[in-house]
Amino acid sequence: MTHSDHQARQPTPLEARSSGPLAGKVRVPGDKSISHRALILGALAVGKTQVSGLLEGEDVLNTAKSMRALGAKVERTGDCAWMVQGVGVAGFAEPQGPLDFGNSGTGCRLVMGAVAGCPISAVFDGDASLRSRPMRRVLDPLELMGAKVGASEEGGRLPLTLNGARDPVPILYRTPVASAQIKSAVLLAGLAAPGVTTVIEQEASRDHTELMLKHFGAEIVSAKEGAHGRKIALTGQGELHGANVVVPADPSSAAFPIVAALIVQGSDIILSDVMTNPLRTGLFTTLREMGAFIEESETRGDAGEPMARLRVRASKLRGVVVPPERAPSMIDEYLVLAVAASFAEGTTTMRGLKELRVKESDRLAATADMLRVNGVKVEISGDDLIVEGRGHVPGGGLVKTHMDHRIAMSALVMGLAADKGVKVDDTAFIATSFPDFIPMMRSLGAELS
Ligand code: S3P
Repeated sequence: MTHSDHQARQPTPLEARSSGPLAGKVRVPGDKSISHRALILGALAVGKTQVSGLLEGEDVLNTAKSMRALGAKVERTGDCAWMVQGVGVAGFAEPQGPLDFGNSGTGCRLVMGAVAGCPISAVFDGDASLRSRPMRRVLDPLELMGAKVGASEEGGRLPLTLNGARDPVPILYRTPVASAQIKSAVLLAGLAAPGVTTVIEQEASRDHTELMLKHFGAEIVSAKEGAHGRKIALTGQGELHGANVVVPADPSSAAFPIVAALIVQGSDIILSDVMTNPLRTGLFTTLREMGAFIEESETRGDAGEPMARLRVRASKLRGVVVPPERAPSMIDEYLVLAVAASFAEGTTTMRGLKELRVKESDRLAATADMLRVNGVKVEISGDDLIVEGRGHVPGGGLVKTHMDHRIAMSALVMGLAADKGVKVDDTAFIATSFPDFIPMMRSLGAELS
């Protein structure tokens, strides 16, 4: 949804009620991170890229539009099947109007990186949520590489003009926070720079950019750095070659039916093709530590991204401590983990959640509010979230979604097992990442109306 679309529309509230056992087999939509990257790398490659299983959510569709505006040919050829004809590294054309990324930090920040390596200027914009999010974290390294920020709001916030570098400079950059978006922006700009661009991260973040760059023929190496980090080195000014990309199902979207099945008594569901890249599966590890039945089978891989079929059965959960170093591998899943923790017996302590404050909303505060209005005892202590699980949740609360898809879906999941259900004030933002969430959950037996 663009800035003006959002201002023009009415909110669409919904209530989730206590449901009977969830059952059935579903495939949640394609992974959002991989979908953005397939379009962007396809647009920077020479030749044709065919993508199957692309997530056709608003965030990714905005990235597709921006790739067109920058000169690539991007066509929908079938159900979730897309073709991209790229312009080559540093080949973007100057766009006619502003690039509007709607709600998507990933689309916006990755495209900033790609534009930074081209001798063009582009205006970046987004909705009210994206306009409030920090952009300095990507602009700082991109400026070191030679890009220049023209007009911008205070603190480098959107809308802003980015003037790409005519002669981008390769850098060695240590990311100040574990962020795949910062890492990816630097690597995408580095594609156009002569020599080696290096990113060092203290905690490894998702590595889809590295894996896909390799798949498209880039010269890139990634090695362990310290206890939990990585050092990634990309040699610039080589061409990328169009490739086929099969997008596995998004584990961050699978998280919602998974937690729903765990907390709704008697449930037994199957999710197919869920991506199981270890840098994305911190939630599965944590839920298993809590006593969850999540069984993996049919494990296979495509372009370095593993996937598996998951069977999930309702389980008695217990509270656990989630260590801070696990955060990058489950950064988008804490909201729904907090829902699972509310239904567990005992205290769950989630450590090191500072980054949650700068997501689509302040998710640390929003998670606490979501639980509190539904009768769950919860506390924020510094960057930690502490949830007192009592085995059941009273419910009956109205949850504010704050333009955040994951708040809406987490609250609805909570309502499926809460004594008095849960209402959300607006479901529209679910379409950014999981357009079929409501019908898919209903097909499993969820009471949503
Ligand atoms: C993403 C990286 C994460 C995540 C976001 C998707 C990506 O953000 O929260 O939903 O695709 O690179 P950060 O890199 O800022 O942590």
